[in-house]
Amino acid sequence: MNDIAFLLNGTPVRVSADNPTRTLLDWLRDDRGLKGTKEGCNEGDCGACTVMVTDADGTRALNACILFLPQLHGKAVRTVEGLTGPKGELHPVQKAMIDKHGSQCGFCTPGFVMSMATAHRNGATDHDGYLAGNLCRCTGYAPIVRAAEAVAGEPVPAWVQDRPTSLDGPAPCAPATADELATWYEAHPEATLIAGATDVGLWVNKDLRDLPEVAFLHACEDLQQIEAVQGGLRVGAGVTIAALREAVAPFHPALAELLRRFASEQVRGAATLGGNIANGSPIGDTPPALIAMGATLHLRKGNARRDLPLEAFFLDYRKQDRQPGEFVEAVTIPAGVPDLACYKLSKRFDQDISAVCGCFNIMREGGRVTAARIAFGGMAGIPKRAAAVEAALSGRDWTLATVEAALPAFAQDFTPMTDMRASAAYRLETARNMLVRYFHESQGAVASVLEVQA
Ligand SMILES: Cc1cc2nc3c(=O)[nH]c(=O)nc-3n(C[C@H](O)[C@H](O)[C@H](O)COP(=O)(O)OP(=O)(O)OC[C@H]3O[C@@H](n4cnc5c(N)ncnc54)[C@H](O)[C@@H]3O)c2cc1C
Ligand code: FES
Ligand code: FES
Repeated sequence: MNDIAFLLNGTPVRVSADNPTRTLLDWLRDDRGLKGTKEGCNEGDCGACTVMVTDADGTRALNACILFLPQLHGKAVRTVEGLTGPKGELHPVQKAMIDKHGSQCGFCTPGFVMSMATAHRNGATDHDGYLAGNLCRCTGYAPIVRAAEAVAGEPVPAWVQDRPTSLDGPAPCAPATADELATWYEAHPEATLIAGATDVGLWVNKDLRDLPEVAFLHACEDLQQIEAVQGGLRVGAGVTIAALREAVAPFHPALAELLRRFASEQVRGAATLGGNIANGSPIGDTPPALIAMGATLHLRKGNARRDLPLEAFFLDYRKQDRQPGEFVEAVTIPAGVPDLACYKLSKRFDQDISAVCGCFNIMREGGRVTAARIAFGGMAGIPKRAAAVEAALSGRDWTLATVEAALPAFAQDFTPMTDMRASAAYRLETARNMLVRYFHESQGAVASVLEVQA
């Protein structure tokens, strides 16, 4: 197997691919002695391990703790040690953090400055958004945001303008096309596929699982395409949540807004749509939205392909309709779903997993419900449609009385569980309230706390 080759702070490095699930964070700290990249949570939550990664698609802030070394082949990695210039000059965000008192104990600071330097390089100014994946327990965010604001417009230092490295071989353990992947996976159906590693990274770091045979999907550019097709958008399984959010924003603002609440900048830049679906989590955010929209899943095994409505893919808790050696190739999202609304309920607004995610697509004509597609995450062992609620609404006048008459049907559709995120009773009550909210919003009421003005 050939080595993994990438640029580290501007210098070419080669690493053996013998252990393909070694994380960048462990390698930086243990093998290279670069301890500026911190280990906080080791599960993608705190951003202390944020590094800057540049490839042909641009520059992203990613969490090194859930990034496996083969994912870096051909890319450029910059750590906090490479943020100062060749003569020790501070990067503008480092200087601003000092000037604005953006650091106290300093543990989180390298992660923050890497996120800020990446945003600065990309000209991003949504400071709350791109810093939501960085946790600071002592300084407070106001001085840090002031530092971020202070550098807007300052030139990007030449030394952080990395280019991807030129490749002298294919990425190890990474098929280059969907065809190659299909052939290989059919012959190795026991292997673990790794796309963004934002779920698989935790299996390794937290569950201490050994993954004897893996294939990385990041080199399959043909799985990363978004194309307009008859009736909608066909989104490749390897499209990241960040890219999906950007692509759907003009057509499906409700979906784009839900994706804004998906994890953090660092996770959205790595996590893929295919991984979110294939992982089969009952609290994944894209499945309820896509089911409510009427999306079609495209599966492939070898040269055999089959399509199914997304809701049919989820059979039981962590059990999907996927054969050994079969993988998710793409999802087709219908065009024009003007009645879609998505409500994510979590303890924090940013960077939190849903307790309940309710997605509604209730179509009306002449004041009457013509069809309804309602799907929930967090209410059952799988992402699931609210069939009884849909039936209670369909064909009826779209009135508050109809909505209230449909509320008892939620108990027919769902028997949610109690866990650390929410109690069963709370889940059921909030799911019902979401339908009421949807009704009021359809009448022009402003219900989002983000929009209500004093
Ligand atoms: C800090 C943090 C916050 C998170 N917040 C959210 C959140 O708000 N909402 C949410 O929904 N999720 C969240 N997640 C979970 C995770 O980010 C998503 O599930 C993500 O979409 C997984 O995609 P991935 O590419 O990283 O998948 P991976 O981790 O690479 O893979 C996940 C699973 O899918 C399989 N797989 C991947 N691609 C394919 C394919 N094409 N065909 C078949 N199988 C495949 C893998 O074998 C594995 O079983 C969070 C994760 C972290 C670490
Ligand atoms: S150590 Fe917390 S996100 Fe990586
Ligand atoms: S400065 Fe101490 S955690 Fe942020």
